[in-house]
Amino acid sequence: MRNMNVYCFILLGFTVCVSGLAQAEKVFFSSHRPTPHYDEVYQNVLEPYCVLCHYEGNEEEAIFDFSKKEIVKYFMDLILDSCVANDRMPPGFPLAAEEKKLLVDWYQAGMPD
Ligand code: HEC
Repeated sequence: MRNMNVYCFILLGFTVCVSGLAQAEKVFFSSHRPTPHYDEVYQNVLEPYCVLCHYEGNEEEAIFDFSKKEIVKYFMDLILDSCVANDRMPPGFPLAAEEKKLLVDWYQAGMPD
């Protein structure tokens, strides 16, 4: 009987520990994650996947020059609709989950420079 109590105690301690860690992890990864900035979005998404078609002077082919920050910001709602919600862009090769998340995180952070 005494042994049972010891086991229960260990089990309880273990459970508390694991849930504590899970909680710490949640706090650490959600609130201490650095806010994405424009450069990160440009280097990881726009430059490799968009600007090859959406560049200045190619508007007849693909409207919008996404090498310009102000244009990207202005059309960000449309970009999210196209690339995150509906996989319309890039045509035929949708963005990976991580790249979509970067776009969404940047937008939700208020699109900092
Ligand atoms: C292979 C060339 C190509 C690439 C790469 C490309 N686009 Fe496009 N995009 C086009 C063309 C052509 C159009 C206009 C015709 C159309 O709507 O299909 C267009 C239209 C759009 C539109 C307006 C229509 C819509 O679907 O909402 C948005 C927004 C857009 N692109 C965003 C992007 C973003 C953001 C990327 C990069 C993640 C990207 N595109 C990559 C060729 C491209």
